[in-house]
Amino acid sequence: MKQPLIAPSILASDFMNLEREIKMIEESQADWIHVDVMDGVFVPNISFGMPIIKQLKPIAQKPLDVHLMIVDPDRYLDTFADLGADHITVHLEACNHLHRTLNHIRQLGLKSGVALNPHSRIDLIEDCIEDIDIICLMGVNPGFGGQKFIPRTIDKIKQLRSLLDRNNSNALIEIDGGVDLGNAHIIHQAGANVLVAGSAVFKSANPKQMILDLKKGS
Ligand code: DX5
Ligand code: ZN
Repeated sequence: MKQPLIAPSILASDFMNLEREIKMIEESQADWIHVDVMDGVFVPNISFGMPIIKQLKPIAQKPLDVHLMIVDPDRYLDTFADLGADHITVHLEACNHLHRTLNHIRQLGLKSGVALNPHSRIDLIEDCIEDIDIICLMGVNPGFGGQKFIPRTIDKIKQLRSLLDRNNSNALIEIDGGVDLGNAHIIHQAGANVLVAGSAVFKSANPKQMILDLKKGS
């Protein structure tokens, strides 16, 4: 089985030293930079938005994996594309016209992602499967870093893997929330391709080594 891609989430990084944190990710074996945008409405927390992404882009070589935890994401897709997002992931629960939204993201030349909250059924995405590059299953209720992984997510990964196989889809399965060294292996074995890790990486004494361990250990 191929090693998973690792996407450190900068939500857990030291914002006062963001340039240094990005440099660390660039020098590490990480594959993507996960960028959590929260609006205080879709989720009960506000993180950061456009000005930070604008400043990140010129110093980041690795793809910016932008996770929009916002209502009405369609309003901002063009803006995030202009600012340098490489992937845009919207929440299924925030979209009335998911098919249209995903196609809009692809028309902007970006990878299209859809994220599912822990309560959302996997089969809700089946009718849009050809339009999705990345499916992000939340391992926690979105809004905060440092939460405990919900064990049932493992079953959802397996269900999603068989749904993708059934539909001949190459979409990547990304797991976000509560990922650490203790569960990376089982998450990967269940069929995940991408592991997002915030606290596990940035609260570690040696983040670069942790990124490697998450990749190898799984
Ligand atoms: C949660 C965010 C996650 C978060 C993960 O709402 O979408 O990306 O940063 O943080 P950890 O890895 O600490 O659970
Ligand atoms: Zn995220």
